[in-house]
Amino acid sequence: MDQPHHDSTPGGVFREPSPFMYLSKRFHFSSSHRMARPHLSLEENLRQYGKCANPGGHGHNYLLEVTVAGPVDPQTGCVMNLEILAKVVREKVLDVLDHRNINEEIPHFQQAVPSMENIAHWIWKELEGEVYPAKLHHIRLFETERNFVEYRGE
Ligand code: NI
Repeated sequence: MDQPHHDSTPGGVFREPSPFMYLSKRFHFSSSHRMARPHLSLEENLRQYGKCANPGGHGHNYLLEVTVAGPVDPQTGCVMNLEILAKVVREKVLDVLDHRNINEEIPHFQQAVPSMENIAHWIWKELEGEVYPAKLHHIRLFETERNFVEYRGE
C-alpha cells in the first residue's frame, strides 16, 4: 500500500519537504517630497535637512524591493503568484504614491516627515498581511542609487 507522505521502504514514495524560499520583486515609482517638520521654521528645517528642506520640494525615482517568504507550493512550484504580488503592490502602494507630492497628497505624511524610513514603514503597513499565502519578509526602499533602507517589520 502506498503511503505518499513517507517512507523509506523499497518502492515507497519519498517526498522531500517543500523548500522554504524568499521571493522578491522590484517596483518603481516617482514622487516628490520635502523634508521638513511642520512646526519648525524654514531655518531650522534647512539646518536639519539641508537642501532637502527647500520649500519647493524635489523628486526621486524610488526603487522598491518587496521580498516575501514561504514554502514552495509543490503543485505550482511557486512561493506565491507573482501577478497577485504585483497587483497588491500596485494597488496598495504604487497607485497611491506614484506621481504624487507625498507631503501634500498622502494624509499620513501631512504629519510624518516623508523620509525613506517613514515611507518604508508606511509601505510595510500597507502590504503586511496582503501577500497570501506567503508572508512579507522584508522590503528595501532606494531613494537614490546609494541611499536605501531595509525594513523587516521590527
Ligand atoms: Ni529627497
